[in-house]
Amino acid sequence: MKLVLIASTDSIEAEKISNTLPQDQKAAIIQSSDQLASLSNGSAIVIVDHNFYEQYGLDFFKDILKNPHPPFLMLAPPDDIQTMVEIMEIGMRYIPKIPDYQKLLGLAVNNTLAQIKEQEQLKQTIVILQKSLKEPESSESEEKAHEVKINILDEIVFVFKRGEIELPTLPQMGIRFQEMVNKGLNLQEIGELLKQDAAISSKLISVSNSAYYRGITESKNLGQALSRLGLKNAKRYVDAICNRSLYATKNKRYVKLLERLWEHSLACAYASQILDESLVLNLQDDAFTMGLLHDIGRLLLLQIIGDLQLKRKLGDEIENAELLNTINGHHGKFGAALLKKWKFSESFVKIAAYHDNLTIADSMTNDMAVVNFANLMVKSLGYTTNENENDLLQEINLEDTESARFLGLDVSMIDEYKNQVSAFMQDLKGLFE
Ligand SMILES: [Fe+2]
Ligand SMILES: [Fe+2]
Repeated sequence: MKLVLIASTDSIEAEKISNTLPQDQKAAIIQSSDQLASLSNGSAIVIVDHNFYEQYGLDFFKDILKNPHPPFLMLAPPDDIQTMVEIMEIGMRYIPKIPDYQKLLGLAVNNTLAQIKEQEQLKQTIVILQKSLKEPESSESEEKAHEVKINILDEIVFVFKRGEIELPTLPQMGIRFQEMVNKGLNLQEIGELLKQDAAISSKLISVSNSAYYRGITESKNLGQALSRLGLKNAKRYVDAICNRSLYATKNKRYVKLLERLWEHSLACAYASQILDESLVLNLQDDAFTMGLLHDIGRLLLLQIIGDLQLKRKLGDEIENAELLNTINGHHGKFGAALLKKWKFSESFVKIAAYHDNLTIADSMTNDMAVVNFANLMVKSLGYTTNENENDLLQEINLEDTESARFLGLDVSMIDEYKNQVSAFMQDLKGLFE
């Protein structure tokens, strides 16, 4: 177990701080800058008391925080705005040293430790994945083309190991919503939860007032919006709204690609839903959310690569075609690992893993067929994940696919589904921003 370091020049204070840690957490109290410099890198968290900071100063910390480092939490008086700003600018977290700060610190430490644990587990998953991605012997000409793809992945794994990538976390509101549904709470009680988030509430109201749902009167508040949408749809749109926020990137190069991926995912979500409803499949997990998340591995890889390029840890010279090939080939495994990490059910994980390649799935199931077909159908409507896919699509005959046959779809049914998806996208796609 890694240590929590407590840096304080006052031994009584240090003792107080160490009492806030979980009982089984090992800690070390340090009083000198040398000790901090040499020990910080191998520790889980560093808690800095403001007296220590005052003694060694901003430059000392700037130096330490330049390199990869564990989370630094600093206790400082709540009225010392200048210090607060200084430390946050260099990447330390600020905890106000109010009279009963122990409670606050305890919470912050617990949360940070939980996050670290989660990141560690995912890093291990990725390392295992990466090993399994390295295919054995291949012919020489293939080898060269393959090399580039593996290099991007190698790089990703390398920075993961150094803790330089933050993985997206599952939006909390969606989880809490699901918990309330599981507990059997009603719309009104769930409304109370959603009210806490003004952005989600206002988007749900707009969705309920869209041409697609609009009744005779306008819904003016969350309660009216929820009763118009119903519990199931409300859950779907909360998932969509929460997920929408994940499709963001600071790397301008990928903004368009991510926007396109979002539309593809939303269209696939709705297409999956109408397939489930019209064929009365009663899938165990909600088809909309399965469709929404099927390509989450693409999102993950694009964000990681974009992030690495911004941090100059991966060259900018990767060509689009290479990038897309890497993502096409590996997003299934990455998506499955992420959904597993987020504790989604086995169906979600399998769909993420096999939706583009049914032949490697162990068996064909209704939910797999639904998402596979929805994915192809929305591409034929132009909701592709990238431009290169447009050319390939000319050759696909939707009614002649394995999933269409499995689900028993004919041309007229498919046309009807396409119309419904187009109408939905036209009315709703702009409302989740
Ligand atoms: Fe995919
Ligand atoms: Fe897809």
